[in-house]
Amino acid sequence: MSRLTELPSWKALWSHFTRARDWHMRELFEEQPARASQFWLEHAGLHLDYSKNRITGQTVTLLLQLAREAGVPEGIAAMFAGERINTTEQRAAFHVALRNRSSLPMCIGGEDVMPQVRSVLQRMAAFAAKVRHGEWLGYSRQPITDVVNIGIGGSDLGSLMACQALRAHAHPRLNMHFVSNVDSAQLQDTLRRVHAETTLFVIESKTFTTQETLTNAHTARDWFLRRARDPAAVASHFVAVSTNLKAVREFGIDPSNMFEFWDWVGGRFSLWSAIGLPIMLSIGERNFLDLLDGAYSMDCHFRDAPLESNMPVLMAMLGIWYINFFGAGSHVIAPYDQPLHRLPAFIQQLDMESNGKRTTRDGTLVDYETAPIIWGGTGVNSQHAFFQLLHQGTHISPIDFIASLDGRGSLPGHHEILMANMFAQAEAFMRGRTADEARAELAAQGLDDEAIGRLCAFKVFDGNRPSNTLLLDHLDPFCLGALVALYEHKIFVQGMVWGLNSFDQWGVELGKKLAQGILDELEGLGTPAPRDASTRHLIDLYREQRARQRCA
Ligand code: F6P
Repeated sequence: MSRLTELPSWKALWSHFTRARDWHMRELFEEQPARASQFWLEHAGLHLDYSKNRITGQTVTLLLQLAREAGVPEGIAAMFAGERINTTEQRAAFHVALRNRSSLPMCIGGEDVMPQVRSVLQRMAAFAAKVRHGEWLGYSRQPITDVVNIGIGGSDLGSLMACQALRAHAHPRLNMHFVSNVDSAQLQDTLRRVHAETTLFVIESKTFTTQETLTNAHTARDWFLRRARDPAAVASHFVAVSTNLKAVREFGIDPSNMFEFWDWVGGRFSLWSAIGLPIMLSIGERNFLDLLDGAYSMDCHFRDAPLESNMPVLMAMLGIWYINFFGAGSHVIAPYDQPLHRLPAFIQQLDMESNGKRTTRDGTLVDYETAPIIWGGTGVNSQHAFFQLLHQGTHISPIDFIASLDGRGSLPGHHEILMANMFAQAEAFMRGRTADEARAELAAQGLDDEAIGRLCAFKVFDGNRPSNTLLLDHLDPFCLGALVALYEHKIFVQGMVWGLNSFDQWGVELGKKLAQGILDELEGLGTPAPRDASTRHLIDLYREQRARQRCA
């Protein structure tokens, strides 16, 4: 028995669940007309309707009791106090300091990190302004027109997602490109579309040891040098964002062209740091500061609001309700605004790399489920693809519907259709369609009894499928900052309840290590290591194919 499953609130929730699993939300709405306002929260330009969940007031009370008993308030305080809550790496997880927009210090071990945070922010702003104003010139004295970000995971997804989301604010001259895959097809495609004279490469890597990023960076530099024919030109076309000054220097980037961040910033929580340089280049300093302001507003809310009205805490605990009690193994992120199309991928890393774990902070194995599989896609496209399973399949997967209320800039009629679809889906998932309703609809279409009998079962929707609806006042930097911080904190709260360290990622190590050994074998270096028959067969097949291709 683990500590979590021994908590009184955990046991109380199980007994509550034996009743709750039979409730239908359709009935809950009939019995509780005030649900829509009871289960509604607003903060920082975000409106959360969580009424379409299989909950009553008592469920929420018990879930919040669980949060308290699991130490969530203490965890929040520890995070903001700069404590080393990343216990396996003995580091703080202090991304909240990056968006501390007050003049108050934020300390780790008694040292205020704010002077260094502000200093890097100022350097980023000065650099971004030069590039944006056309004052940062390439080797042929032309302004930069294209920015190529080379990075992967947390050094890619946040900036990529935000640049896409905020493209209405993008600088008209600067085309943003993101290269992450070591499959050279992506880099080749990108290099085909840019000119060396007017391209700025931003090499982003916290460690500056990541194989994929460094391979792409070296290839990009070789490509560049073949055109510029002058190693001195690298200085005006390559900048680095990293915590590893030594490796950046070894790569050949002048430290004066490096933007620093710190080991207390986790990769997937780093878009607020210098890793957000592509965002600042694209949307400018003022908008980047708005992004930080939105996140800061959510941070203050998370730190100070009572649990009952704390948006990240409530979303986290609703997730726990479905994962640990209903057995929901996945969670869908469905943004309806097209510019948010990379949000599911971003939240996927944020959540699954943070809480995709089964060893608790004290080193014991869990005896309960942890992070769900996060998946999703833009709303209407998903409706025409995988929503079928969500409506009538056998899995329960809670959904976050996300959209901006602001239809300005949209072509006539489009935004209404978009919103109508989103509201309709949330309604359909909640209500479903009963057999009586299905029969009545078929009869209204003029079908005879035999046809109605034959088709009715296929037309029934159980409903009772939970969802949150998150509305943004605008899809602007402020609301996006608040939205991302909301998910960051939600995930942290879930990690606290499950007793996990949400800030390490040991699970990615083994594959990286094995890949190095296999690479040596693919390149014919060293003696082949003893391996399982399948891996041996795959390696041998690849080598044979390559040998044949070389001879051809
Ligand atoms: O392999 C996983 C990971 O370490 C992520 O956590 C990180 O965001 C990504 O790789 C990139 O790492 P880096 O910024 O050090 O290149």
